[in-house]
Amino acid sequence: AKITFITQTGTQITAEASSGNIMELAKENNVEGIDGDCGGVCSCATCHVHVAPEHFDKVGKASEIEEDMLELDDNANEYSRLGCQIEISEDLNGIVLQVAN
Ligand code: FES
Repeated sequence: AKITFITQTGTQITAEASSGNIMELAKENNVEGIDGDCGGVCSCATCHVHVAPEHFDKVGKASEIEEDMLELDDNANEYSRLGCQIEISEDLNGIVLQVAN
């Protein structure tokens, strides 16, 4: 799937993968602002992204553990997800993610 990241400085990076998660993909492509400090175990929120509203259905809602983590983040909104908790599949093709932290 092709995934587009928009960094806080407005840089657009489109990357492609068929497996793994969004945090890993962002790291592999040096997307600024995605750090993945906890290694993808849902405990740091440095992989926070805002999903484009029109794409949110494709990505789906956060799990309860993820919600708890997001609640601690002042930048969270209804379109927030943690990148490490989004598994990449073809269903995600074309989505746009704004880096949130
Ligand atoms: Fe730490 Fe996603 S990498 S919560």
